[in-house]
Amino acid sequence: MKVLYPASKIAQKVKELGERITAEYQGKDLLVIGILKGGFMFMSDLVRSLNLPVKIEFVRLSSYGCSDSPQWDVKVVNDVDQDTIKGKHVLIIDDIMDTGQSLVCFKRHLEAKGPASVKICTMINKTARRDQSIEPDFYGFKMEDGFIVGYGLDYAEDYRALPDIYVIESSDRRNAH
Ligand code: IMP
Ligand code: MG
Repeated sequence: MKVLYPASKIAQKVKELGERITAEYQGKDLLVIGILKGGFMFMSDLVRSLNLPVKIEFVRLSSYGCSDSPQWDVKVVNDVDQDTIKGKHVLIIDDIMDTGQSLVCFKRHLEAKGPASVKICTMINKTARRDQSIEPDFYGFKMEDGFIVGYGLDYAEDYRALPDIYVIESSDRRNAH
């Protein structure tokens, strides 16, 4: 595995994102919703870089059984109540946007609960396989293609705890199992 984004570069990006998001949500009620498991590390760093009062929720998305979008089938596990969302400015935090399918579905799911706004922040914006018309409103790094691990991102549940982000070659992926 090769380091793609070292922890020092990640920390710098998180700081920049924190400043932009702080400016964007000045004077507003911000609710951040982290996507487990991949978004946990980015979420915990990012909220500490915000100079704003925030409320925090987490959900898990599983890749089957979405009622409002059967063609992609993303199910929200441990969903957030409508009362918590209604009238709030919501920022979804995840590790990576790839095809865009899971976040398109989750954003639509939240919009049905009457928030003031819903935006998306991902650490990585990976563009080659995007098949939805959606972009993260905020992101740390843009990459075209490749499979990465670390800083919350996993391959078969391994590597999430690594502080740097690595590219993992397809030969490494085969060897791991
Ligand atoms: P989507 O294709 O945008 O719906 O992305 C769904 C999920 O795929 C992400 O939240 C990640 O869990 C996973 N994923 C996509 N690309 C990578 C990667 O390069 N490394 C690890 N997980 C990935
Ligand atoms: Mg994920």
